[in-house]
Amino acid sequence: MSGLTVVVIGATGQFGRAMMRAVEATPGWHAVGLGHADVDVTDAASVGNALAVPHDVVVNATVWHGPAQEDPVMALRVNALGARVVADHASSRGTTCVTISTDYVFDGDATRPYREDDPVNPRSVYGISKATGEALVRASTPKHLIVRVASLFDIGGSRAKGNSTFVSTMLANARAGKPLRVVADQFHSPTYAPDAASTVVRLLEAGVTGTVHVTNRGWCSWYGFAEAIFAVAGIRADLTPSRLADLPSGPPRPRYSVLAHGALRDADIVSPRPWQEALRDYLERESAGSS
Ligand SMILES: NC(=O)c1ccc[n+]([C@@H]2O[C@H](COP(=O)([O-])OP(=O)(O)OC[C@H]3O[C@@H](n4cnc5c(N)ncnc54)[C@H](OP(=O)(O)O)[C@@H]3O)[C@@H](O)[C@H]2O)c1
Repeated sequence: MSGLTVVVIGATGQFGRAMMRAVEATPGWHAVGLGHADVDVTDAASVGNALAVPHDVVVNATVWHGPAQEDPVMALRVNALGARVVADHASSRGTTCVTISTDYVFDGDATRPYREDDPVNPRSVYGISKATGEALVRASTPKHLIVRVASLFDIGGSRAKGNSTFVSTMLANARAGKPLRVVADQFHSPTYAPDAASTVVRLLEAGVTGTVHVTNRGWCSWYGFAEAIFAVAGIRADLTPSRLADLPSGPPRPRYSVLAHGALRDADIVSPRPWQEALRDYLERESAGSS
């Protein structure tokens, strides 16, 4: 396929930054990054102006991250209606619309990895807003690619989490000698944003549309993830397992949100490497002071 011009909305965010790098690393491809200062996805006129630049693909990597993440009005405005505004624009232009979604669209009651066509049943406002966004995007344009990722980590972290990730928070707290209690009964697939982003490039190269799960291979509990972080980083931490039921009240979290990779397999695209390998890369980059 000849080179694509890919506009990334949310380019200052964790996934958006990785997506920019993945596109720029692809010979002949061109990336255009838009931050929140350049475009507001909740405003159709703003999206129309910002996307006036010629392009083939738009990647919507935005997420509502105000003071109250579970604010239903704002979550639905950005994560659902904003996703639709971007998709409608793509539909009118005939461009491909990539929407980044989440494992939190599932309820977490499964006992085997969720498939792309399993029914969604979100329990949190965030999950409901993302599942609604998915449905609105599907209804807007057949040229959509909905990519569900999970538990992202990368240098610089998530804007929604104060520029941190679970990995950076664990390391900072352990280095400060703080005791850590981490849930051992919530299971997921930690996912390195650069691995997910380069898989999105492979999907675009292959012309895949529809809904696709993109996570690093394997899974663990958050406690298991913390143990691995400290083992690889060579840090002794005061780490104790806890249970979801012990958490102070907060939005419901899926107990089990491992995602199966059927759509990647069907497209003959190799799943991202095991999360442990990605974690080692991340920690090497982090200790080398990479940005
Ligand atoms: N982080 C995770 O662990 C995780 C897990 C599963 C799925 N996801 C999904 O992955 C995607 C990216 O997450 P992330 O961690 O990269 O998020 P992030 O670091 O918080 O980045 C979100 C980006 O969206 C921008 N933004 C927010 N509201 C906007 C609006 N109304 N109009 C335009 N831009 C807006 C932000 O800009 P400002 O910061 O300047 O406002 C920022 O650039 C999201 O769709 C999220 O639901 C993330």
